[in-house]
Amino acid sequence: MKEARILRRYSVWFVACFLFLLGAVQLMAARQDKKDAAQTTNQPSATAAADASQYVGSETCKGCHEDQFKNTEASPHYRIFSNTGRGEQWHGCESCHGPGAAHVNGGGDKTKIFTFKDVKPEEITARCMTCHEKNAEHMTFNRSVHARAGVTCTTCHSVHKPKVEEQLLVQKSPDLCYSCHQEIKADFNKPFRHRVNEGLISCNDCHSAHGTNMPEQLRSASAQDAVCFKCHADKRGPFVFEHYPVKSEGCQACHTPHGSTNPRLLTRARVNSLCLECHGDVLPSGPHPQNTKSQACTLCHVAIHGSNTSNILFK
Ligand code: HEC
Ligand code: HEC
Ligand code: HEC
Ligand code: HEC
Ligand code: HEC
Ligand code: HEC
Ligand code: HEC
Ligand code: HEC
Ligand code: HEC
Ligand code: HEC
Repeated sequence: MKEARILRRYSVWFVACFLFLLGAVQLMAARQDKKDAAQTTNQPSATAAADASQYVGSETCKGCHEDQFKNTEASPHYRIFSNTGRGEQWHGCESCHGPGAAHVNGGGDKTKIFTFKDVKPEEITARCMTCHEKNAEHMTFNRSVHARAGVTCTTCHSVHKPKVEEQLLVQKSPDLCYSCHQEIKADFNKPFRHRVNEGLISCNDCHSAHGTNMPEQLRSASAQDAVCFKCHADKRGPFVFEHYPVKSEGCQACHTPHGSTNPRLLTRARVNSLCLECHGDVLPSGPHPQNTKSQACTLCHVAIHGSNTSNILFK
């Protein structure tokens, strides 16, 4: 029994290793092709099948680059120095910079080590991905709007000199995001807004900088509004009497997500004009005031997101 289990475990590992190697070989081949064609960089190839002798080990690097050694050791990346698990296989400094023997033998020859300078963004992404692609969130990065726009991991993260230590960010969010998304910054300066600047919620609550499977890099389908229900669960229902557009068009039928000059983040300055866009046939008679502009519709139709007791959304 025990043997069978062990055997099974080893065969899983064997298959996993084989697939990994296959993937790596293909990746390298693809990268090599690209490089041959474009000749964009004269930097040594990243994960190229270097034999062990081309690696000198992090202790050697430390001899000449103590600063980088110390700041890496003090960061979440300290794990790549660990001798347990995959530590050794990862090769410490050289897991990112590639094998360093030629660089060291050349007395610190810059052209013989991968420096991350003057290389295509995809090449940097691929290098970071050798370890980070297994993370469900980062898997989607290559398909993200960000990746397609030439943004790469080191645009937002700094391995050695981060401003935000924990997540190794070059700048804290939302300023990081505003540095490129000026128009969004303007949204969050409007009088009514989600309090992102105040730190109450973050871009990351609704979007992922690493991409998602949804449009606009949203964390969940905006049509189903799961992204909003995370915090506004009371609007989810189901209600005995639904207000049709909440379910059919979603929150954005009436609200803007970022900020607005209108109270309650509404898409219209006055509630009534919003309602009348769809309910233009409401007669200014009977229960309704003579002038449908004089009283807010929501004064009476309070349960605007749905009700369990009133078919006219009163309570
Ligand atoms: C014998 C000393 C020495 C050792 C050992 C050494 N380096 Fe260097 N390294 C240098 C020098 C000197 C430079 C600066 C070259 C220059 O500025 O012209 C340099 C530059 C670099 C750069 C480029 C910096 C830049 O400004 O672009 C990187 C990256 C680097 N080293 C990484 C490593 C890694 C990783 C290791 C271990 C595998 C290592 N070095 C080992 C001496 C060394
Ligand atoms: C997780 C990947 C990663 C690891 C591990 C790593 N580096 Fe770096 N290193 C980078 C990146 C990326 C840069 C480019 C500058 C930046 O974005 O911070 C860089 C830049 C450098 C530079 C240029 C000067 C500087 O500070 O920008 C040196 C020298 C260097 N690394 C040495 C090392 C040494 C020595 C180690 C091991 C102690 C190491 N690196 C480990 C990713 C890494
Ligand atoms: C050799 C494997 C390896 C490579 C290559 C690598 N990382 Fe990491 N990275 C790790 C490990 C291990 C951690 C520790 C946290 C963990 O286990 O997820 C980490 C942590 C991080 C964190 C912080 C995570 C946190 O929990 O706060 C960031 C950000 C990060 N890496 C970015 C990068 C970037 C950018 C690159 C490329 C320049 C890169 N990494 C390359 C292995 C790697
Ligand atoms: C547009 C900016 C941006 C880019 C590009 C980016 N990141 Fe991030 N990353 C962030 C932000 C912001 C966070 C912090 C998220 C949070 O608040 O939890 C983060 C968090 C992380 C973390 C911490 C663990 C986690 O998921 O919370 C890791 C690891 C990481 N990024 C790796 C990467 C890698 C690898 C790449 C490239 C494939 C990359 N990032 C590209 C902005 C970016
Ligand atoms: C409360 C959730 C939420 C927060 C917080 C949020 N967003 Fe959005 N964002 C959305 C939704 C929903 C859309 C889709 C809008 C649409 O389809 O009209 C969107 C759209 C976008 C777009 C693309 C469309 C446009 O308006 O240009 C960008 C870029 C964007 N957001 C960036 C950001 C940044 C940067 C932050 C943080 C400063 C942020 N968002 C915070 C929900 C949010
Ligand atoms: C280096 C510049 C840069 C930084 C930093 C940056 N972005 Fe972007 N972002 C872009 C570019 C370029 C695009 C694609 C073009 C566009 O739609 O604006 C984009 C697209 C997006 C989109 C998708 C818009 C769509 O139409 O699908 C969202 C959402 C987004 N970014 C959010 C963020 C968030 C959140 C941050 C901070 C963690 C951030 N970005 C940081 C440059 C950046
Ligand atoms: C991460 C939590 C979070 C998410 C996700 C979120 N909200 Fe909010 N929302 C809040 C908080 C907190 C407030 C209270 C605002 C305040 O006090 O600044 C709020 C307030 C509002 C308000 C009332 C604003 C006012 O002026 O009273 C509306 C409308 C709103 N959210 C709509 C949405 C929509 C639409 C979405 C989805 C696109 C969404 N929210 C996603 C946390 C969230
Ligand atoms: C048919 C238009 C409409 C739709 C669709 C809609 N809302 Fe509203 N919402 C309103 C109106 C109108 C108000 C202001 C009510 C008032 O002023 O009394 C409001 C107020 C709010 C408020 C602040 C007051 C409160 O009740 O907490 C939040 C939060 C909110 N909406 C979230 C959402 C979310 C989340 C969705 C999507 C599930 C959504 N809304 C869909 C019209 C709508
Ligand atoms: C995007 C279009 C749209 C907007 C905006 C809208 N509604 Fe509706 N509303 C509908 C639809 C569609 C129904 C379902 C009508 C039906 O079944 O005949 C509905 C149903 C209702 C009902 C239930 C009565 C019935 O006939 O089922 C009331 C009351 C109501 N809306 C009030 C409002 C108020 C008040 C506002 C403004 C805060 C508003 N609506 C905004 C589309 C909208
Ligand atoms: C003074 C309270 C009050 C105000 C203000 C009010 N309503 Fe009503 N509304 C009612 C009552 C009571 C009914 C039920 C009438 C019935 O059952 O015959 C109703 C019914 C409705 C219905 C469903 C039946 C129909 O006539 O189509 C809609 C839609 C509606 N209102 C929309 C609105 C809109 C839009 C506004 C704002 C312009 C508004 N209401 C303002 C009290 C009000």
